[in-house]
Amino acid sequence: MEIIIHDTPQEAAVAGARMVARLVREKPEAVLGLATGGTPLPLYRELVRMHREEDLDFSRVTTFNLDEYLSLGPEHPQSYHHFMREHLFEHINIPKENTHIPDGMTLDVPAFCRDYERRIAEAGGLDLQILGIGSDGHIGFNEPGSSFASRTRIKTLTRETLQDNARFFDGDPTLVPRHCITMGIGTIMDARCVLLLAFGPGKADAVAGMVEGPVTASLPASILQHHSTAKILLDSPAAATLQRADYYRWVRENRPSWQQD
Ligand code: F6R
Repeated sequence: MEIIIHDTPQEAAVAGARMVARLVREKPEAVLGLATGGTPLPLYRELVRMHREEDLDFSRVTTFNLDEYLSLGPEHPQSYHHFMREHLFEHINIPKENTHIPDGMTLDVPAFCRDYERRIAEAGGLDLQILGIGSDGHIGFNEPGSSFASRTRIKTLTRETLQDNARFFDGDPTLVPRHCITMGIGTIMDARCVLLLAFGPGKADAVAGMVEGPVTASLPASILQHHSTAKILLDSPAAATLQRADYYRWVRENRPSWQQD
């Protein structure tokens, strides 16, 4: 795990966008795993800016989103289909057929999930997976207790996640769908590179558990300690309870000049 602490979410997001952009420039047919929620928004804004001002080309990129609420159709304003169009896809030159998001209206969830896994494999696997983290330590919607071997499937959201996400549903947790389709932890761990972003004091405990706690299904993100290429981009408040924060900063300050992000 590489822990990279920035002063602000904006700085961290720009650093993350540069990593994505470098991959896309080196491998124009890159396969990206995408997240939704509040955390990746500044990263997506920066990618849109790079597309407009620096000719960052997404025409051969393929994307797979982590998750979608069950029962929300693609036009629902709180669906992740809507989110992705609004914040990224409508502003870059990615062909619609190259973008994949779980279908919240599927009538056969297990068959859909098997097919989603098949499509990821057929695309050659994920080159880079962008992640946020839930305050309960979830990645994707793999809530505490999720198997580390899990693949794309249905999950039931915890009360804590319903409460956290109520802000997108008029502040009412009863309006947040209780079920979702999410990539599994095994699916995420197969990505060749993982980029997790976490901002704000509300994420500090989950971040400390993920980075410095035991690897446990009770804190799903802790499995990233076993990923060979996981970069964790934090702002200072999200890093506030890390015991070794000084060391992580020291590592960055003393990076050999040949090392790139
Ligand atoms: C979103 C996702 C979730 C979020 C997490 C944090 O696709 O998979 O794991 O990354 O719930 O959400 P925010 O960023 O809104 O705090």
